[in-house]
Amino acid sequence: MQRRENIILIGFMGSGKSSIGKRVSKRLGFQFIDTDQIVIDRAGMPIADIFERLGEDKFRDLESSALRSIAHLNRCLVATGGGIVVRSENRALLRQLGYVICLTASEDVIFERVSRNSKRPLLHTPNPRQTLSALLTTRQPFYGETAQFILDTTKMPQAEAEDAIVDEARRAFSWHRAA
Ligand code: S3P
Repeated sequence: MQRRENIILIGFMGSGKSSIGKRVSKRLGFQFIDTDQIVIDRAGMPIADIFERLGEDKFRDLESSALRSIAHLNRCLVATGGGIVVRSENRALLRQLGYVICLTASEDVIFERVSRNSKRPLLHTPNPRQTLSALLTTRQPFYGETAQFILDTTKMPQAEAEDAIVDEARRAFSWHRAA
């Protein structure tokens, strides 16, 4: 199947998918889509409430269904939730959807970033650092097997990460650079 010109950002919570993705989408002239936002809109409640009232399995169902609903789109930049790679069905869909870029960062940096807000229900545990570490270990292989390009943003200012993704998109889609 012909791969479409979409950029998909995957990676752990706090890896910068949404903030970097929004800015990169503007630079590429792509529509910005956030699978978490589709889930929130459809469920009519924030993610923390979905987890609390409906449970993680239901959230994952909604997430898979959000991904299926954008499978036909082109010239989009899709930011995804950190756990989207857990289901093999999603990993296959992500690869079909476009060029998959994984944003990574060291565990310390991720922990520092996610500690800035409390919106992530999976880290509402007695020991969030330990939970984060265990989730990272489980998910690492899934990110690796799904992504075609991995960008480590640990020591990278956001602007540099954005430039790297724009360059990589141009390369992946064989676009000519502007003079
Ligand atoms: C999740 C990550 C979140 C959101 C939900 C579950 C996860 O998205 O989808 O809280 O399982 O890692 P971000 O990666 O944008 O924080």
